Amino acid sequence: MRGAGGPLMGGHGGPGRGPGGPGGRGGFGRFAVDDIPEAKLNYRRLLNYLKPYVWQVTVSLCISAFVTLIGLIPPKLIGIILDRVITKHQLQNFYSLIIYLAVIYVVSNVLGGLKGYIMGRLSQKIIYDMWQDLYRSLQRLSFSFYDNAQTGNLMSRITNDVGAVERVIVDGVDVAIMAVLTFVGITFVLFFTNWKLALIAIVPIPVLAVLIFAVTIIAHKIYQQVRKKMGEISALLQDSLSGIREIKSFGREEYEVGRLSEKSTDYLQTNLQAIKIWSIFSPAIVTTTSIGTVLVLLFGGKMAITDGSMTAGQIVSFLFYLGLFYQPIHQLNQVNHMLQHARAASERIFEVIDAVPEVQEAPGALSLPRPIKGEVVFHKVRFEYKKGVEVLHGVDFEARQSEIIALVGPTGAGKTTIVSLIPRFYDSQEGMISIDGIDVKKLKLKDLRENIGIVMQEPFLFNGTVRENIAYGKLGATLDEIIEVAKLANCHEFIMGLADGYEHQIGERGIRLSVGEKQRVAIARALLKNPPILILDEATSSVDNRTEALIQQAIDHLLRKRTSFVIAHRLSTVLNANKILVVQEGKIVETGTHSELLSLNGVYADLYNTQWRHLEHPAAQ
Ligand SMILES: Nc1ncnc2c1ncn2[C@@H]1O[C@H](COP(=O)(O)OP(=O)(O)OP(=O)(O)O)[C@@H](O)[C@H]1O
Ligand SMILES: [Mg+2]
Repeated sequence: MRGAGGPLMGGHGGPGRGPGGPGGRGGFGRFAVDDIPEAKLNYRRLLNYLKPYVWQVTVSLCISAFVTLIGLIPPKLIGIILDRVITKHQLQNFYSLIIYLAVIYVVSNVLGGLKGYIMGRLSQKIIYDMWQDLYRSLQRLSFSFYDNAQTGNLMSRITNDVGAVERVIVDGVDVAIMAVLTFVGITFVLFFTNWKLALIAIVPIPVLAVLIFAVTIIAHKIYQQVRKKMGEISALLQDSLSGIREIKSFGREEYEVGRLSEKSTDYLQTNLQAIKIWSIFSPAIVTTTSIGTVLVLLFGGKMAITDGSMTAGQIVSFLFYLGLFYQPIHQLNQVNHMLQHARAASERIFEVIDAVPEVQEAPGALSLPRPIKGEVVFHKVRFEYKKGVEVLHGVDFEARQSEIIALVGPTGAGKTTIVSLIPRFYDSQEGMISIDGIDVKKLKLKDLRENIGIVMQEPFLFNGTVRENIAYGKLGATLDEIIEVAKLANCHEFIMGLADGYEHQIGERGIRLSVGEKQRVAIARALLKNPPILILDEATSSVDNRTEALIQQAIDHLLRKRTSFVIAHRLSTVLNANKILVVQEGKIVETGTHSELLSLNGVYADLYNTQWRHLEHPAAQ
């Protein structure tokens, strides 16, 4: 009989739909003893996402309320049809009552459809808003965050977790409010119809409350695990897809499949655990309500048989109402299911949204006074990536306007670290770095970074066309400007040789270009930006002599007329430099020009003798 409640309710959210957030929140979430403050805060924050759409929410809730109300009519009508029409064979009333019934169903379904449309739109907008928040936060976060984060895991938060949360905000709020309304409405109707039977009907409620409370506590823990495992799988997938060339070259396909299946088994097991919990609790809940139905039928039937205080029609309509009475409880149970998912997911989302960027703009930050000279001074700079592990132990140097500063030294000495402090990719723990006499920590971040061009050791190119990749240096650059810098960077020629020229798609990370080509595209990009300060982390990879000459020429163009820091691997770059800084074990151990340093006969002289000497005097070899 209870099953008949579904169709009777029309199309406005049958029992199959996921039900009600705040119902779960106010009713059952409150009992979750494990982490009350955090969870409560998250629910409120989740509901904040509904705020901009208060009109849509109101309209849709009004529709829900109306549909719920008219949903109370059909059982009564059916009772009347049974008692006054069918048993008394009154055909005229029969047709009009059937028409009433049909109209109620049609109206309720049409309104249900309209509400579905409003809520569907709303749900898409909420996903959009959450993505914006997440993406903005991800863009704001500092390098140190990404040093420790896994890309795949972050992606899983953006896709899977947002999905789980959106569902509960939209469906949850709606269904919960409907459920509560229905519950209250039906309670009145039941007591009004027959208070004795109504008392019997509420016997299972305390048992249900205990069951739902128990499942909430257990499920939340499991869903935290489920979401964590999903993140791990995404991280692994992302890693192995990016590393597919390494996987294949080492013949590690099977090994990777094994790694993934290990993780998926983990994920599967945790999910199965959750399914087990729900498959124990859900039937328990349904059975408890069925017992209520049986009790009502038992006592109601007895009343009808012994003293005739109830008619068959009254019992039928009471049972229909009973179906509607227990339905909100099932719905809250389902919402609870969704809610536990969403709670775990929202924790992961807010973890990212709330993450505080390590590098912060100071309040009232300054702009660099123009024209910018580009003088960079390091004063006793100490730096550590990880607490307690100092990488730079007091670095001092000065770079005057338009000077070329070469940094040389063994691998791991700290060259890249030194230059990455200039644009504040990281903040030094002690000492000061200034540009034109102003501490970089006092400058507006945007202003600071706009004035610094960087060509990384392994330049990253985006999935897109060559033109787009060069234009990244100056959004909105014309094709003429792009061609001009491409010519200076010696890449115009090879670009014209590509199938689609400047519109050629270069694939993820520029995979369809050679290393030498990528480097020159990156140089063109920096040239287009035309910054007063330039950082160039020269690539170590060796290229053929002709390409080497082309890159060298491109670099010469790049370094001209600006303060440049070059982590140099080429002898020619070192020879061109106004000043060479020799970095060793996080300190600058020697400073000077090539000839000055050679005459010192120290670290630089050693370096020169082992690395470059033969290049300068090939005949001497
Ligand atoms: N993101 C990071 N987190 C933690 N430690 C780091 C990080 N980047 C570099 N390091 C460590 O800091 C030290 C200096 O590294 P850095 O990259 O500055 O060396 P480098 O002189 O540029 O070397 P190379 O010539 O090989 O590029 C190394 O010991 C390195 O392991
Ligand atoms: Mg380096």
